[in-house]
Formats: sequence, C-alpha cells, structure tokens
Amino acid sequence: MEPLQLKKSFEEIFDTEPILVKSPGRINIIGEHTDYNGGLVMPAAINKAVYVAISKREDNEIHLFSESYQEKFTGTISDVKISDTDWANYILGVVDGFLKRGFSLSGFNLYIYGDVPLGAGLSSSAAIECATAYALAQLNQLSVSNMDLALIAQKAEHEFAGVKCGIMDQFASVFGKQDYAMMLDCRSLEHQYIPLKLDGYKLVLLNTNVKHSLSDSAYNDRRAQCEQGVDWIKAHHPSVQYLRDVNEEMLLEYVKPKSIETYIKCSYVVAEIERVKKAATALKDGNLQELGKLMLATHEGLSKAYEVSCKELDFLVDQVKGLDEVLGARMMGGGFGGCTINIVKDEAIDEMIEKISKLYQEQFGLSLSTYVVETGNGSQIIETASTTSSL
Ligand code: GLA
Repeated sequence: MEPLQLKKSFEEIFDTEPILVKSPGRINIIGEHTDYNGGLVMPAAINKAVYVAISKREDNEIHLFSESYQEKFTGTISDVKISDTDWANYILGVVDGFLKRGFSLSGFNLYIYGDVPLGAGLSSSAAIECATAYALAQLNQLSVSNMDLALIAQKAEHEFAGVKCGIMDQFASVFGKQDYAMMLDCRSLEHQYIPLKLDGYKLVLLNTNVKHSLSDSAYNDRRAQCEQGVDWIKAHHPSVQYLRDVNEEMLLEYVKPKSIETYIKCSYVVAEIERVKKAATALKDGNLQELGKLMLATHEGLSKAYEVSCKELDFLVDQVKGLDEVLGARMMGGGFGGCTINIVKDEAIDEMIEKISKLYQEQFGLSLSTYVVETGNGSQIIETASTTSSL
C-alpha cells in the first residue's frame, strides 16, 4: 500500500485528515545480543517500513485499525493496559510510556500498515513502536528528543510485549540513514555512521519463515544469565555495570567457578563486542573478506555458545559457508528463526538464491523468502495534516 492509499483508507474510516509517519525495519551487520550488555552493535535501517496515519479526537478515546489484521481496537487514554490484541499492545505501550514520563496526550485515531515482514527478525515491532512514538509526539506537539522517542519505544516492548530487549532495534528505526550502517555504543548511546560500501557485493537475507515459540522466554533467560555474570563480578569490581566492562580474565576468575553455562554465555558476549570493533575497521577499510569472517565467527558463537540459533538457520549458514561468492553469513537478530544475513557477490545472487531455496525446501518442506537488502532512512513525518507534500 502506498502512503497516499494509507491516507485515503484512514479518511474512509475516521473521516478526517491524518498526519503520516514512517518508521523502518532494520538489519544488523554484526553485534548480536550485545546491546542489553552495554556493548556495540552495527545495524542499518532498511527500505521496508511501518506507516502510521494519526489524528486527534475530541474525546479521551483511542481508536486503532490494523490494515494487516483488518481489525479494530478501542480503548481510553485514562485506562491504558495490556490487551488481548497483540498488535495493539505495541501502540498502547508507547502511549503508556509517554504518560509515565508525565506528558499529557489527547485521544486519537490511528491506522497502521507495514511492509516489514512479520516474525522475520527485521524488527517490525520496533518499527510500530517508533512510528507510534513519532506520531504521538507530533500530534501533541511534545518536545522529546529522538533518543527519548527510541527509549520510550523500547520500554513499550519491555512492558507491553514482555521482551526485555536492548536498544538496537528502536535506535536503528529512529536514526537509520540510507547507505550507512551505524555503530552504536549501547552504554553511552554515542553512535557513528559508517558508509555501507560493499563494492561488487550485496547483503542478502534468507528468511527461514520459522519463528520457534520459545524465542521470547529464551531471550529473557539469556539476558538474565548475562546479568547474573555481571553480579558475580561486581561483588569484586563494583564499577562493573555491564558485560561491556568485563574481560575474559574476570569471567574465568569469578563466573566460571560458579557456573560453566553462564560463563560460556558471557564469554560469547565479550568476544562479540570485540568482533564489532574489528568489523567497523574492516568496513571502513573496505576489507569485506575480514568482515565476512567475523560474521561467520559470530554465527558459530550464537549457535554453539549462546545457543539462540535453530536447525533451519544453521542449515542456511552451512550451505553457503564454503562458497567463494559468499564472504560471510550468520543468523541475525534475537534468534530461533527469522533470517540469515549474507554478503554475496552481485552476479552470483540469483543462482545462489535458486540453489539454496531448493535445498531448503527439500530439507524442511518449507519455502525460503529472500530479500536483497536496500538501506533506508530512519523515522520521519511524511505528511502533516493540511499540508500537501508530495509522497
Ligand atoms: C532482538 C532485540 C534486540 C537485540 C537482538 C539481538 O532483535 O530486540 O534488542 O538484543 O535481538 O542482538
């Protein structure tokens, strides 16, 4: 659906002119499960996005409509709580976040549509949260920084979707820039843009089309294990706040004797943070071979040590690992399904996709979806009510 169509659909239901907002999904080149450990990540926004159309209401009510689910939801600002309607919770969580920060909001009508594939690990939920945060800030003329909008969006995920995620997805959806990856320091929230120069190569996503059900609880478990490791070290080094502040020696001394399993998980994170630093240098130097190797090492860590991969993701990485035309491959995002991200030589992409789709179908009886990544810009207001900007 084009944004213009979205506006029309909104007007058909709500009979008034909306503000339109767009927030993209994201990829992550490297730095997985490091964000909630105060570590480094390297995401980029993509050209698939969530679109929100919004207008003020005279009353205190919240009226939502989801294009994808063809479903309505109604609530009130004064009684925002977790609902049984999953997609509405991402929006309600953002409303709650503004209210908890002391902002007052008017009632509103909101129509939501997106082309970020759901459950593919491309952060469609962060895109919904960020689009809602942008839309509400604009609608109520709130003075909130972009970083705070990302933080409000992240909190919605914690409190209304029950996933204790880091800041990477919401950050990328707000701050993305076409043709750039971003290296974000999740401890200081400082970030730099790195040109995504992949001369002769492209990033290709292979979507397993599976999302194993344990993903959310396993995610929170991993986070808890990391925090446990930090607590054990903190008892001896009070300044340590995150695994970011820890080195392998500390893990060997204070974590390994208490739990081998926690040690292995923490050790993966510490190594992954180092890989992001090396990857940033490799990308700046145009050393794609090195970047690819680091991605493969990340996959190995996520699969064997951090244990957030699954047989479908491992299969896809195994199939491309030895190929000359594929420099790097790894599972991307939280894990247990979703996509792998691959650096593939331009002219080899079609053949690789054809071959691997066939193998995947034979192995799992499932079809593979594939996307050649195009980066995009971060969240933006694409039309304010009663302006006629061209879309
Ligand atoms: C999910 C979370 C992110 C991040 C990744 C793993 O996408 O939402 O915060 O932790 O998993 O890197």
